[in-house]
Amino acid sequence: MAIANTPRKILVTSALPYANGSIHLGHLVEYIQTDIWVRFQKMQGHTVHYVCADDTHGTPIMLRAEKEGITPETLIGNVHKEHSADFSEFLVAFDNYYSTNAPENKELSQGIYKKLKAAGKISTKTIEQFYDPVKNMFLPDRFIKGECPKCHAKDQYGDSCEVCGATYNPTELINAYSAVSGAAPVRKETEHYFFKLSECEDFLKNWTRSGTLQGEAANKMGEWFENGLNDWDISRDAPYFGFEIPDAPGKYFYVWLDAPIGYMASFKKLCSDKGFDFDEYWKQDSTTELYHFIGKDILYFHALFWPATLEYSGYRKPTQIFAHGFLTVNGEKMSKSRGTFITARSYLDHIKNPEYLRYYYAAKLNSTMEDIDLNLEDFVARVNSDLVGKYINIASRTAGFINKRFEGKLNPSANNAVVAEIKAAAQLLADSYAEREYGKALREIMRLADLANGFVAEKAPWVLAKQEGQDALLQEVCSDALEMFRLLTLYLKPVLPKLATEIEQFLNIAPLTWAVVDASLPVQHGINSYEHLITRVDIKQIEAMTEANKENLQATPTPAAVSATHSEQRHAQHQQNEANAEAEEAAYISIDDFTKVDLRIARIANAEHVEGAEKLLKLTLDIGEEKPRQVFAGIKSAYDPATLVGRLTVMVANLAPRKMKFGLSEGMVLAASDERGGPFILSPDSGAQPGMRVK
Ligand code: MSP
Ligand code: ZN
Repeated sequence: MAIANTPRKILVTSALPYANGSIHLGHLVEYIQTDIWVRFQKMQGHTVHYVCADDTHGTPIMLRAEKEGITPETLIGNVHKEHSADFSEFLVAFDNYYSTNAPENKELSQGIYKKLKAAGKISTKTIEQFYDPVKNMFLPDRFIKGECPKCHAKDQYGDSCEVCGATYNPTELINAYSAVSGAAPVRKETEHYFFKLSECEDFLKNWTRSGTLQGEAANKMGEWFENGLNDWDISRDAPYFGFEIPDAPGKYFYVWLDAPIGYMASFKKLCSDKGFDFDEYWKQDSTTELYHFIGKDILYFHALFWPATLEYSGYRKPTQIFAHGFLTVNGEKMSKSRGTFITARSYLDHIKNPEYLRYYYAAKLNSTMEDIDLNLEDFVARVNSDLVGKYINIASRTAGFINKRFEGKLNPSANNAVVAEIKAAAQLLADSYAEREYGKALREIMRLADLANGFVAEKAPWVLAKQEGQDALLQEVCSDALEMFRLLTLYLKPVLPKLATEIEQFLNIAPLTWAVVDASLPVQHGINSYEHLITRVDIKQIEAMTEANKENLQATPTPAAVSATHSEQRHAQHQQNEANAEAEEAAYISIDDFTKVDLRIARIANAEHVEGAEKLLKLTLDIGEEKPRQVFAGIKSAYDPATLVGRLTVMVANLAPRKMKFGLSEGMVLAASDERGGPFILSPDSGAQPGMRVK
């Protein structure tokens, strides 16, 4: 049966992962989903380019590099290597994996900005923002912490409370402090650049109606339109790791401005490497197709900012945006304390075979934005029963006879009903893959594998092999079974590309494409010897993996390692997931975390009242350093300063200095208190000396 298709030219992207963290099983939902689609379209004979890159700019990456004592360029270089290795081992076959910190991206971003400006879509406005007076930088919401204005939980982020779920502005936090230096942030005016999204509503409404979005996504858009579109703040002040805005010294593009342009930049690099025509794919009236695979958390950026940016800078818009849901593990958010926050590397170390995960995800994936669950027990059962028990079993029960009894030569029948039924499924399966209904495709493929196994069981080659005069039938049955195996391999190839390649070698055939569904293994075709193709997964491997990830608790991200989040989109699932993963971790700290706190015996050299302060005493603390520390402690209600002088206590010596109304506070004294009383400052046993470490 012929699948008629005119060749298409297709450019596909997956979202660019942040360059400040490792690829984990959640990310892989997207990259595996996209890779399967790309491989399928390539098997159809279309021209497909699949590009991606690391998303490298922004405050978190800048601060993390600083903390590690390396340049951001070195940091993103290291991460690029790590990410590339992870993807290639999971068989995610990008045609180019680039970086947003690339010359092509700088040129494209600045060029697009200039076109937007020329189109009258850029405005400037002076806004007030939080500023860290110690670190001398403006602070993203995520780097301001403080007490929740609703439930009074301490140490909440500037945009939302992890305890009660309230969302608010950082200005509403009580006792706000900078997560970078600990200093109390001050408000400071600064001029920002805005993209006038509010003027793009008509265009966006039309664009949404043109079938570019899934139903649920179009509904979300409807909500956003109802709430009204705000202009988009696209600038950040120095210091910032990113691209400078033309003719605006000290102003940088916000990371989300240049990130999607990174799709273009990665493709541009591919074009110059391979001689493809960039403009053919990106010009306003392009006849090529452009698809973005993304998670539902970043829909706002891809369905509003991105098409509007493209429209008003004279480029083509995406053909479609495919948003998927979020991964849960065993029905819950990935969690470090449960050992289910699993990195790509950790999976490879323990389970080894990436195709098991590809198969399992594919079996669970559909075209909606529903979350998908990785149930680890089900994973083991499904992989073992489908891949080993159903699929590979067809070859392992028949190939040996062909090799041993017929010198590897096939003699298939002309009209096997099961072969015909398997061939007839080609169109349905092609449609399912094209529509991203992978679960549907795999259910059908496994139904066909059941038919093949039923055929083998019914003909029982192992019985024929023992009977006189049944050689011809034995050869025919086994040949037909291997033809079924060939067809199923073709259908599974987008999901299991490595296994398919090994099977192509075993069957001694050219790389399978969708077109060869019409052909058959010819009479007298010689196959190679059958080698063991796949082993079962053992639940013990899973247990070892989750155990190992539980031990990863010391990898608690510091504020600087928290991914750049999008305050534009407070309700983002993404943010909640990340935040919850962190909240989970916060339940325990590792010994390493504890030793980060430098606790010292301190002698109170002086203590005095502070004019105008209700609660504070000013202490001078000797910890054996040349210059004594000045600390403001909230203990005035409980102590007469004169009685404190000369006493020993315990202080945190490496707390970031904090600028207070009355002066700089260079540490913290430990004291106990609750509703029963206090504060009671701590004292060491006799013999302790100033400067001794407390561990
Ligand atoms: N850097 C941005 C994307 C810029 S695209 C121009 C970003 N990076 S990310 O590393 O946080 O996420 C990359 C992709 O992985 C996103 O599409 C995101 O939705 C997806 N996922 C991240 N965690 C995920 C799960 N737990 N589950 C499913 N997809 C997840 O966002
Ligand atoms: Zn709260």
